[in-house]
Amino acid sequence: MKKALSHVSKNKKRYLEELVDFLKIPSISADPAYAKDVKKAASFLKKKMDEAGIDKTKIYETAGHPIVYGEKMIDKALPTVLVYGHYDVQPPDPLELWDSPPFEPVIKKTKIHPQGAIFARGSCDDKGQLYMHVKAFEAMNATDSVPCNIKFMFEGEEEVGSEHLEAFCKKQAKMLSCDMVMISDTSIIANDIPSVTVGLRGLSYVEVEVTGPNKDLHSGVYGGGVVNPINALSKMIADLHDLNGHITIPGFYDDVVELGTRERASINKAPFNLDAYKKGLGIKEVNGERDYSTIERTSTRPTLDVNGIWGGYIGEGAKTVLPSKAYAKISMRLVPDQHPDKITKLFSDHFKKIAPPGVTVKVTPHHGGFAAVTPTNTVEYKAAAMAMKEAFGKAPIPVRGGGSIPIVAMFEKVFGVKSILMGFGLNSDDIHSPNEHYGLFNYYKGIDTIPLFFKHYSQLKSAKS
Ligand code: BES
Ligand code: MN
Ligand code: MN
Repeated sequence: MKKALSHVSKNKKRYLEELVDFLKIPSISADPAYAKDVKKAASFLKKKMDEAGIDKTKIYETAGHPIVYGEKMIDKALPTVLVYGHYDVQPPDPLELWDSPPFEPVIKKTKIHPQGAIFARGSCDDKGQLYMHVKAFEAMNATDSVPCNIKFMFEGEEEVGSEHLEAFCKKQAKMLSCDMVMISDTSIIANDIPSVTVGLRGLSYVEVEVTGPNKDLHSGVYGGGVVNPINALSKMIADLHDLNGHITIPGFYDDVVELGTRERASINKAPFNLDAYKKGLGIKEVNGERDYSTIERTSTRPTLDVNGIWGGYIGEGAKTVLPSKAYAKISMRLVPDQHPDKITKLFSDHFKKIAPPGVTVKVTPHHGGFAAVTPTNTVEYKAAAMAMKEAFGKAPIPVRGGGSIPIVAMFEKVFGVKSILMGFGLNSDDIHSPNEHYGLFNYYKGIDTIPLFFKHYSQLKSAKS
């Protein structure tokens, strides 16, 4: 692997330039107006995979955005890793809060990233992290040191729920067959505190529409006599939590696997600086479910959050109106063994039940997914831990993450294999927010760690079977 790593260090500048070009393509999956750019990003990626020496690269069209595939099969007797990533990005809104345009990458130093970070939408989530795999492969291939079979599957719909991935995986099960899935789409605790993500939350996402009168009304002529749907929706939302921060939907916690004292203690042992956390977010106090730490609240406990709420008049000045409708988008983060469809149904039934007379409620489910937990007593985890230790000089801490990558549970269901979540971002990298960035340290550290992972995995797995 020494040769591969020296190839990386000789080509560092180009590796960054290529990522900059990739980040210039606005591959926003949620907005149909950018469908062409999503395709452009897929073509860019395929070309770069070809140049890196990956075989059988192909863009597979789906009913949504395309999936880019490629592989390097060096020896059928060796283990096979499927690398997954997503080249689509979140919409950059609100644009006015970006210090530089989201698709014109700039490199700037920050306090947390003294060596510089690349600012652009998708830099950390997930184009930058996905591209580490393409470049790590280039380095291994150029130095004849690919230690196992590697397959690559990059999708363009992760940020909108991976709608077509499961059907693709089922249809192409043979082509995609593998011993494990490797994903770099998560974070480490800090640049000097490496970690491997061993769990992610699931998701249930709904949109609600509350309708009162059949048209917008004069708020003086009718106000006080007719239910205001925005007032009603606000109260309904407020009632979804009690004073202890528990979610009040009946049955919501029924399937939650409560963790034992020892597991909770071990989760709470992970380094976490509450003061720095508060300071970084500009808040005076944290808040959440009573009797749980911030680490637990944001990883091992289920949650309910309003992501957006609208209705009535929001233009300049004041308009006296009693609106006909109010809307909200609500996400619930789930933990093992909550079932996303069941939770959606519990929410929907309850939300309709707590509506005051005089309004009607419509609940529209969006995408969802199961939580995932990955074991640490496997050769896959051991290989990741060894690679991290070699690259960072410190053994990684296993942590459970609060975000969701629903396809992890899907891969387990369809392929019967576990995933390793070896991401290199930081939670402070502002993914999904304005000014998303990815540290150059993190980008290069990832490219150095990945070949080490393949080396250790190939050795451990071959020794075992
Ligand atoms: N990469 C993130 C998930 C993530 C981020 C996990 C940080 C752990 C740490 C992924 O792209 C994402 O944003 N997922 C969505 C869910 C998806 C179904 C839209 C999420 O978590 O909101
Ligand atoms: Mn992601
Ligand atoms: Mn994301």
